[in-house]
Amino acid sequence: MLPGKKWYFDMKDILLKHCTLAGNLQDILLSGGKIAEIAEEIKTTAYTLNLSGKTVLPGMIDPHTHIRDLEQAYKEDWVSASQAALAGGVTTVFDMPNSVPPTVDLEGFKAKIRVAEKSIINYKFFIGANKNLWNIREIVQYNPELVAGIKLFLSQSSTNPVIKDRTFLSEILHLAKELNLIVVVHTEMQDCLDSWAAKGINPSIENHNLLRNRECAIKGTLLMLELTNTIKNKLYLAHVSTTEEVDLIRAYKSDNQIYCEITPHHLLLSELEISNFGNFGKVNPPLRTEKDKKNLWQAISDGTVDTVGSDHAPHSITEKMQNYTKAPSGFPGLETSFSLLYNEMIKGNLTEKRLVELTSANSAAIFDLKNRGCIKEGMIADLVIIDPEKSWEIKAENFKSKAKYSPFEGKIIQGKVDYTIIGGEIKYQGVIS
Ligand code: NCD
Ligand code: ZN
Repeated sequence: MLPGKKWYFDMKDILLKHCTLAGNLQDILLSGGKIAEIAEEIKTTAYTLNLSGKTVLPGMIDPHTHIRDLEQAYKEDWVSASQAALAGGVTTVFDMPNSVPPTVDLEGFKAKIRVAEKSIINYKFFIGANKNLWNIREIVQYNPELVAGIKLFLSQSSTNPVIKDRTFLSEILHLAKELNLIVVVHTEMQDCLDSWAAKGINPSIENHNLLRNRECAIKGTLLMLELTNTIKNKLYLAHVSTTEEVDLIRAYKSDNQIYCEITPHHLLLSELEISNFGNFGKVNPPLRTEKDKKNLWQAISDGTVDTVGSDHAPHSITEKMQNYTKAPSGFPGLETSFSLLYNEMIKGNLTEKRLVELTSANSAAIFDLKNRGCIKEGMIADLVIIDPEKSWEIKAENFKSKAKYSPFEGKIIQGKVDYTIIGGEIKYQGVIS
């Protein structure tokens, strides 16, 4: 059970009647917050949703979100983020520590707990590392249930300190191993970025991929893989974006607990389109090349990629409309990520089994979420119900997120989220009944 949620055993039971589960027409009874029974025909007096063949899938577990709130509530808060998540079929999020104030000590962690009380979805927090590693021990002692893992930024990101020193990195990985915490890394390396910034390249969104050069992410990924191969900690590489990185990860993966996340934008967009998006497509790591996209798809089919994370990184539209140098990187993804992947499944680019692995089952396993991430009797009922017949257009003005822009603006998606269910309760209804 994730904190913030209560499972009432006297809550109303719900029967999901005639839904499609892994290709078969089934009835699913939800009771006491859990999946109580799955059968071809269930007779009950419970409240019934007649789904006439609509698809039921596990709700997305999104391992990479920046929910902000606190002093950046103008960008996003836990209410707007929850609503965005629910509309997007996301039932659990892990929140990143580069908030204001940052989640790098017990005080910052407690502030996060307070502000997330208004969440409607399940959540955990990543801890950022600063010089004083005692902070990590203290946070874990205080509330291990709410800790998703440790997040390291090898380059500057808002309030979190840049980790550069190799010895310090090793210390963190040893501590993580001792505390059985997974280490999530943004691998672009600051010194490398600085050296590219000094080359005199014209700072423009068209040059973002050149300036935040692939070399910087590749070097950081290799460094993390090498350290992990020695220390044998648990490593999760966030938003992997290049061919070289997936090749390296593939090589190191077999002997290690090494996991690889990609985002929908790195999978589906490239630098070729960046002029269409302007700074609304400015993100770190940058949108890469068509060849990188192709190789990320290859890494999905051969199992190198474990998860899809949205990297939901909302900023105000005014901030994003500043010139290239000033505009912050990142854009919202909670409302589009699951649907974009579902749409790719409909197009035949991945199987339903792989969709479930990437969007929920693997994150549940990697981050040790008990009884979540698949649909079986006894599991917690965190579900999304999709109408595969319905298509819709991504229109950011309709987002529940405060960040109402998207590089996917105008894209037509097949498959619409009709209901999102958390702990057996309908939290979102996208259809008029
Ligand atoms: C993230 C943000 O805005 O917090 N931005 C982004 O482009 N992905 C930070 C980060 O992950 O670098
Ligand atoms: Zn990041």
